[in-house]
Amino acid sequence: MDSGYTAVISAPEVEHFHGDVLGIGDHRPRLSWTYASQPPEGARVTVSVTRRMPGGDPVRQEAEVDAGDNLLLAWPFAPLSSREEAVVTLLLQDCDGRDLGRSLERRFESGLDVTDRIADFVGPSWSEVETDHRHLPLVRTEFGLPSRPKAARLYLSALGVVQAEVNGGRVGSDELTPGWTVYRDRLECWAYDVTDQLNKGANALGFWLGDGWYRGRLGFDGGMANFYGDRIGVFAQLEVEGEDGSITHIYSNSWDRRWKTSMGPIVCSDLYEGETYDARLEEPGWSRPGFDDSAWAPVAEVPYDPSKIENPKLQAVRDQGKSEPVSITRIGGEGGCGSYLLDFGQNRTQRMRLHMHGLRKGAQVSIRHAEVLEQDGTLATRTLRRGQEHDLYTSDGSDAWWEPRFTMHAFRYASIEGWPGELTTDDIDCRIYYSDMERTGWFSSSNEMLDKLHRNVLWSMRSNFVSIPTDCPQRDERMGWTGDIDLFAPTAAYLYDVQGFLSSWLKDVRIEQEKYGTVPFFAPFVPLGVWAKPCAIAIWGDAAVAVPWTLYMAGGDERVLAESWDLVSGWVEEVRGYLSPDGVWDRRPDYPLGQLGDWLDPTAPPDDPTQAVTQKELVASAYFARSVDYASRMAQVLGMEDKCSDYKKLYERIVAGYHARFVDVSGSAVRMTSDTQCAYAISVAFGLFDGNPRLKQGAGDRLAELVRESGGKVATGFAGTPFVLPALSETSHDSEAYSLLLSTDCPSWLYQVRMGATTTWERWDSMRPDGSINPGGMTSFNHYALGSVAQWMHERIGGLKALEPGWRTFEVDPRTGGGLTEGSTSHLTPRGLAESSWKLVDGELHLHLVVPAGSTARVMVGAVTSGVDRKAEDYGPGTHDLLIKRR
Ligand code: BGC
Repeated sequence: MDSGYTAVISAPEVEHFHGDVLGIGDHRPRLSWTYASQPPEGARVTVSVTRRMPGGDPVRQEAEVDAGDNLLLAWPFAPLSSREEAVVTLLLQDCDGRDLGRSLERRFESGLDVTDRIADFVGPSWSEVETDHRHLPLVRTEFGLPSRPKAARLYLSALGVVQAEVNGGRVGSDELTPGWTVYRDRLECWAYDVTDQLNKGANALGFWLGDGWYRGRLGFDGGMANFYGDRIGVFAQLEVEGEDGSITHIYSNSWDRRWKTSMGPIVCSDLYEGETYDARLEEPGWSRPGFDDSAWAPVAEVPYDPSKIENPKLQAVRDQGKSEPVSITRIGGEGGCGSYLLDFGQNRTQRMRLHMHGLRKGAQVSIRHAEVLEQDGTLATRTLRRGQEHDLYTSDGSDAWWEPRFTMHAFRYASIEGWPGELTTDDIDCRIYYSDMERTGWFSSSNEMLDKLHRNVLWSMRSNFVSIPTDCPQRDERMGWTGDIDLFAPTAAYLYDVQGFLSSWLKDVRIEQEKYGTVPFFAPFVPLGVWAKPCAIAIWGDAAVAVPWTLYMAGGDERVLAESWDLVSGWVEEVRGYLSPDGVWDRRPDYPLGQLGDWLDPTAPPDDPTQAVTQKELVASAYFARSVDYASRMAQVLGMEDKCSDYKKLYERIVAGYHARFVDVSGSAVRMTSDTQCAYAISVAFGLFDGNPRLKQGAGDRLAELVRESGGKVATGFAGTPFVLPALSETSHDSEAYSLLLSTDCPSWLYQVRMGATTTWERWDSMRPDGSINPGGMTSFNHYALGSVAQWMHERIGGLKALEPGWRTFEVDPRTGGGLTEGSTSHLTPRGLAESSWKLVDGELHLHLVVPAGSTARVMVGAVTSGVDRKAEDYGPGTHDLLIKRR
């Protein structure tokens, strides 16, 4: 189609999805697109839609808009109905009506409205044992179709997790469907195109069901099983439009006697512990028509309120490609049966598919996984705690490819025991998983170790963006810890488009806040161990404000602010009530651990990460001041003048109290009551000294001094780490920033790289210099929080930083240093690609700049250190090659 297509105008994206999408929730979806170059003054865009209801005729409509309305254009037509399909193209014309380019088409479809959800949840009808390791069921049904399908959609959800088959073939490629939400209040329903999998005549649907987050054992300290319910079930609604014009509806239910269930070959499956599968229990053909299911039981209904089912905002967890082993070593075994150690060269969230062959009936293959090896070369599984990541396969004697379905693993190394004969790469197909997101950020430099650190940051992000943003992907935890994403969100939003992913999670944060009266430590919340009673703590709770603000700055979408306002103001109002009269948050939170402060500060002992050197009330007050500042700006964007001025006053009160309590300006030099990297860093980076330039510079100078005194070693935990380098740069101390970043001593980022890290670690010394694993019970090699340093790499090595929401204006201010001769970063902004790449030649900076249509780049030129001839120059859309003298 589209012979007139040019790359001048992109195909529109719908809401925050990328590509064609089925089952969206918005009836008036907003559209966004980009231009390859700035359209001429007065240019217009004609938006054409061809819309069609199942069984109906196509209707074509057009609307004309300004070419500048290309970011989140309000749907210019009548709202879409439930299940309606839309195919949209764009035509760009100049003010005289001459065609400049036509976009490719974008297809999307709305999901089921609540009144159209007629399926029930159905599952096992037998009484299940009272344990969390239950034998998992299959569900099936058969039906006839009067003609070949013209279009067919399967709407699928589950209490638990589900994988669907049609006529023996897998539906879609999503994993852990329907993902993790606060099931008590909302559950997502996914839509699939199954047109090509159906036939005229007899057809069958089959479903594998797993415990997942719904009733599997969740979390640490023994965890909690059956948290949302103790019965699992599938919701399936198939709608088929036949070539003869017929419409057939098939929906799961317990009353038409056509839906049957039986125990399947998955003996048990736990998200953390692994899956046990017995191929001898397979019943060939179970999801095809004609299968004899007379021995199967009728299904039972599992009650769930259909009004809580939602059409998703985010993309599913999907297969993201193959991971190849870099070595396979035989480590034991007798006779024909071998044990092997596999190294995949990269720690990440993945699962192995193995070609099981040569096994006699009843023979077992045992597969274990770990992030790192102990010093004796064995798999380090202690740190996994209960999350032992152990799969066990029992053969039925036939040849089969097998991969677990309802567990997830994160590992670099694996062992396989019980393997018959030689294990080769031909038998291994390891698949990588994370939520589908659009990549938007890149970085490279002339320093290979920095580039490796950046790749590690990417892998820790991907590993932990699995349905919700988690702390770690391997041990018995994997919770949506709010503090971790508070710190990492700006980095995440640069590397990937996380608008859909994080705004979906924010919904759950809000739901939990309403239930518990505060922002819980993690969302979805599960009462566990010392964390059983949600309580307001700084950084973690502040995510309620920082994450929406980050999304707004990255995407320019005011809706995320409007949707988050109750969450934001709820947090601000709650904590306002805890402040002392001088505005300092020094009241101890009412649960066993109190404030976590600069959590995992490198001086804290392995068994007590809360013992940080920086005062907790200082950290808490600084973070709260930042939240109140963001909240006042949000109020302004949302047109709430009174709230805006109320929060501005509150901010001033906190800052005044902060200065009075924590800053000593009596001497010639600035000193804070906590004379630590963290204290100065957050004060400067959060703008708490902006009203007093001497104080700000003094704090930056002291920070730089502390860095020099430490020999260029990091001295911060979660709270301070993202802000040390930015605060140094903001006060003209780039060389100290580089000395921290480029240090390879413990603790430092490149220490981890030097120790062979392939992801970013939870602790600076998750692995100690002698190669031993930190003895702390909480030691992960795949946490993204400390990887937040990548944001400084994007902003100050590459040189790109958004100044206005949605990158309308952005700063280009690369700071050379650290012996780097080249730096480059690019970001796919909502307006198109922005790029800053430089080379240092004879002390001169050759800067290559790309500015997308609709944006302005503010390039900082002149010497940073003297500050004297430093000035900003603006550059419009297009490509620019500049020569900037450094001094
Ligand atoms: C998690 C952290 C989290 C912390 C809260 C840990 O167990 O892994 O990343 O933020 O607890 O204190």
